[in-house]
Amino acid sequence: MSHCEELLVRVGRGLHAALPRPSRHPIKALDAKGMELASSDAELRAALFRLVDVTPACRSHDDLARHLTEYLKEVDERPQALQAAMRVAHTAPGRAALGAAAATGVRHMAHRFIVGESPQAALGVLEGLWKEGSACSVDLLGEATFTSEEADRYAARCEEALEVLSAAARSWPQRPLLEADSAGPLPRVNLSVKVSALTPLMRPEAPHVGRDDAAQRLRPLLRRARDLGAHLHIDMESLDALETTEELVFDLLGEPEFGDGPSAGVVLQAYLRDSGRQLDRMLEWARASERRPPLTVRLVKGAYWDHEVVEARQHGWAPPVFEVKAESDRNFEELTRRLLDERLTKDSAGKPDPWHPLLRVAIASHNIRSLASAIAHNRASGGEDHDLELQVLRGLGDELGVAIAASGLRVRSYCPVGDLVAGMAYLVRRLLENTSNDSFLGEQQRGASIDELLAAP
Ligand code: 2OP
Repeated sequence: MSHCEELLVRVGRGLHAALPRPSRHPIKALDAKGMELASSDAELRAALFRLVDVTPACRSHDDLARHLTEYLKEVDERPQALQAAMRVAHTAPGRAALGAAAATGVRHMAHRFIVGESPQAALGVLEGLWKEGSACSVDLLGEATFTSEEADRYAARCEEALEVLSAAARSWPQRPLLEADSAGPLPRVNLSVKVSALTPLMRPEAPHVGRDDAAQRLRPLLRRARDLGAHLHIDMESLDALETTEELVFDLLGEPEFGDGPSAGVVLQAYLRDSGRQLDRMLEWARASERRPPLTVRLVKGAYWDHEVVEARQHGWAPPVFEVKAESDRNFEELTRRLLDERLTKDSAGKPDPWHPLLRVAIASHNIRSLASAIAHNRASGGEDHDLELQVLRGLGDELGVAIAASGLRVRSYCPVGDLVAGMAYLVRRLLENTSNDSFLGEQQRGASIDELLAAP
């Protein structure tokens, strides 16, 4: 075993040992049971998704129960509990009870991922996370807008969120690990925005139209973030938005008025076969712009896998994503190493200069092996722990977040804010992830040993 691989295994075991015991909360257990059922049977999984999707549109519990039984009819092998549910639905009081239970279940599932309906309502959770050693990035739910009014409303909500969060975060206690790295201070307030919510004109065949329209709404947000000292992170979505998003961010951040703020970031999706070239472009831009504070790159595997595969098949194209999960995992480690190695500039004597990196690196994953590979590579190449950020999603990576913080590393939790209707697409992506048969979390829940979990992909 190489030195770095040995270090990786040691770090991974440490993280694993620091995981809190899963809580025995009865609703959580029920939730886990539901996910397990959905993972075990494709038809059941489809029924669950359709139920979740239709819930906000149903006008009554009766209506919801009728939908649910229709969906369940498509499932050949129904577990006993669902069989009983269908019998109950033959009477009006039965449907009322079943619909109420289904609505509660969906709402509960949503609350697991969504921290509040508004930034104001989310403040308690965000402050709690901060006190326990985790920073956050707030994601305002809502994407793929259809009208300019909708896009204006989203931009206004973003601005309001920046104000509300900035006012509240001032009184949070000091957390040095979350507030600075070698390159300088790190904002307490961090907002993630989606370009598809900032413009209804996103078209892959005309990226400049969407870019120009989104720029009109992003520019004021960048100004507000700069004046408030907040960080703005531009999310990456499906591939058809990639070019618009890249051009938008690089053009705007290159404008003279944003030369020294706000702190901003982009996302690199390791499941894309072309992600290496995307990283080349980010590095090239960072070298040419010499912008301070450095651009943060959040490395993720990617959340639109099913969409990309279906879309490509419909057109008869080769999917732009790795189809075998291990390939994404390997590419994730490769990109992690490149990010950590190539972010550094050299001082006049040719020594790496940690105070002026080209990029800040954030590694977002729930896979302990992926995280351990980043921590180990950073240490093995002489980097400081505080120059590496790790990120998890609220509701999926909470326990991992606690373990990362307990290990003295910086963690940021991605926290969606908004209502169930706005959050539906997000919720479905999380459910897809959580019920997928080859997910790391699934393997972990099925009781895979730490050696299996840390094996090279
Ligand atoms: C998503 O919205 C987490 O940005 C990611 O699915």
